[in-house]
Amino acid sequence: MTVVLWVIFGILFVSFLLIVFRGAPYVPTRARDLDDLFSLYKFKKRDVLVDLGSGDGRVLVAAARRGIRSVGYELNPFLVISSWLQLRKYRTVATVRFADFWTTPLPKETAVVFVFLAGPFMKRLDTKLSREAQRLGHDIVLISYGVKMPGHAPEKTKGGFLVYRFEA
Ligand SMILES: C[S@@+](CC[C@H](N)C(=O)[O-])C[C@H]1O[C@@H](n2cnc3c(N)ncnc32)[C@H](O)[C@@H]1O
Repeated sequence: MTVVLWVIFGILFVSFLLIVFRGAPYVPTRARDLDDLFSLYKFKKRDVLVDLGSGDGRVLVAAARRGIRSVGYELNPFLVISSWLQLRKYRTVATVRFADFWTTPLPKETAVVFVFLAGPFMKRLDTKLSREAQRLGHDIVLISYGVKMPGHAPEKTKGGFLVYRFEA
């Protein structure tokens, strides 16, 4: 019994605390800010929104409710399961994957990447998005919640959101 409890504790520890070394710990975007997020980009039918570190899936659910296609990558298995359950009725437009976003290529139709990341990871994200825009052959719009992208001027801002463009 003790071993089982230690295993459970270990999984929780890695999922919720050690994750700070891969991106950011779980802190959800405030529900009341989601309208601002979706006012910042006019999605076309084929566009996909990608949430890098999708947490409890609230951004994916909010996108699905607006008819916007989305994919979330999340490393915390508890949050993946919780999001998967919430997304059951939106299967045709929204998906969550148990994956490390640093090592996962963006889908071909990615138009917008959303992040709520810790500041020290923004430089690495800059490199990833610059490469991905080249690989995909089209611009990628980044919407960051509360964290500036060093060396880039935002195209616009609203509430806590900053919008950047990575050109192909
Ligand atoms: C600040 S929370 C944001 C959650 C969600 N995007 C939101 O705005 O409500 C960051 C999330 O990223 C996840 N995460 C951190 N690093 C990751 C990585 N390398 N790959 C996938 N998920 C990661 C964490 O587990 C956490 O749920």
